[in-house]
Formats: sequence, C-alpha cells, structure tokens
Amino acid sequence: MYLQVTDLKKSYGQDTGYTPVLKGITMGVERGQMCVIQGTSGSGKSTLLHCIGGLDTMDSGSVQVDGIEIAGLRPDALSDYRRVSLGFIFQFYNLIPNLTVRENIAVCEYLSEHPLDLDELLEILGLSNHSDKFPPQLSGGQQQRCAIARALIKNPKLLLCDEPTGALDSKTSRDILMLLEKINEIYGTTMLIVTHNNAIKNMVHKVITIKDGLIKKDYINEVRVKAAELEDL
Ligand SMILES: Nc1ncnc2c1ncn2[C@@H]1O[C@H](COP(=O)(O)OP(=O)(O)OP(=O)(O)O)[C@@H](O)[C@H]1O
Ligand SMILES: [Mg+2]
Repeated sequence: MYLQVTDLKKSYGQDTGYTPVLKGITMGVERGQMCVIQGTSGSGKSTLLHCIGGLDTMDSGSVQVDGIEIAGLRPDALSDYRRVSLGFIFQFYNLIPNLTVRENIAVCEYLSEHPLDLDELLEILGLSNHSDKFPPQLSGGQQQRCAIARALIKNPKLLLCDEPTGALDSKTSRDILMLLEKINEIYGTTMLIVTHNNAIKNMVHKVITIKDGLIKKDYINEVRVKAAELEDL
C-alpha cells in the first residue's frame, strides 16, 4: 500500500469539551489510485486529511506513506515530508493575492529539486493566457486551477484535496475533475479527494465513507466513469 492508515484516533478538547473525532480509522490506498472520502459534515474528513498531511497531530495509530511512518516525526522531518511528498488543494484556493498566477506557482516550484515545467503545467491547466494576472482578477475556476498548478508544480506523489470543487458550479467542477483525472493519468499521482458531491465517487478507483469517526464503507469501483461523462455533478 502506498498510503496505509491504521487505527488512527484523534480527538479535540479536554474534560467537558472532549470531542473524539476519529475513533480508529484503518484504510489503505495503492500508489496511483484516486480515492474519494465521503461523510456528513463534521464526520472528520478534513481532520483525517490533516492527520495524513502532517498538518495536525494524531492521538494514536499510524499513518505510513511510501513506507515512512508520519506519527511521531520530528518537526523538521515532518516539514520535509510535506515539502517533498505532498500537494494540498483546498476549497477556497488560498492563493497569495498580490502575486501573479505565475508567481503563486513559482513559490512552490522552488521547494522541489525536481519540479515540473511551469509553462507546460500552465498549458495543461489552461492558464497560459492568465499567467500574469493576479488572483482577484480571475474567476473561481481559474483560481482553483492556479491552486492545482501550485500544488502540482512539485510533482508530489500524494495530492490531498479538501472539497476541491466545493465553491464551483457544475461545469467548472467538471473541468477541474477532468484535470485531476488527466494529472493522475500523466503523472500517476495518488489522490485523496474529500467531497460532498455524490457524483464524484463514480470517477475514482476507490471510495471510503466515514461515519461517527469510523469507516462505514470502503470499496473499489469495478467500472469508472470518466469525469467528462459524470451525471448530476
Ligand atoms: N481545531 C479544532 N478544535 C476543536 N474541534 C475541532 C477542530 N477541528 C475540527 N473539530 C471538530 O471535529 C469534528 C470534525 O471536523 P472536520 O472538520 O474534520 O469535519 P468534516 O467532515 O471535514 O466536515 P465538513 O464536511 O463540514 O467539512 C467537528 O465536530 C469539528 O467541530
Ligand atoms: Mg471538512
């Protein structure tokens, strides 16, 4: 398994404020798989992504990525892991408003010893004509494509996406999903995609549903539907 999570537990607060969120999550994702994580609001999807991405600590359990244990890594090793292996995409883009599209991406290019070609990535993502614009001058879909380029420029092995289409209309969502599909095909990037959109589960290899802090469903799609052909997006 490229990603193996074992009996992961995570809670917030203490005493009367104690909230157990993840109560023993065990899941695995193979290298190159796209995996959707579903669950109702507050079920712990973002928390799980943050624990896997080393953005938050876990109470107990194990997260192994490519054979490396994340739990208990020292801060410098943890930031190396995030820098070298991970890309993050969030619902609200988190671009730097006073840098151009090209500059927003270049900031992350310097983090990698083997970045992808920036112009090629701009081309793939349909941003070549927008590269000198600033984020506030772009539509939501264009901003998300820029955020995707920023996450991908390092050519990360694992891409963590938290509601990547949550702020987008159906047509723009489809464009973004087609891009993720293409990136997965070209670069073999392993992807975890948290989403409320029920249609997206049909395009990925694997689907996981979280309920009450535990895995409720975990299955492989025998047949995948291309993002271009997803219904009811
Ligand atoms: N930093 C925090 N401090 C305290 N409680 C938190 C913190 N982060 C999350 N929680 C709680 O943990 C639970 C899970 O939150 P999480 O953000 O992981 O849910 P989610 O499944 O991503 O929900 P949504 O679909 O609404 O994004 C919620 O009850 C939330 O209130
Ligand atoms: Mg969330």
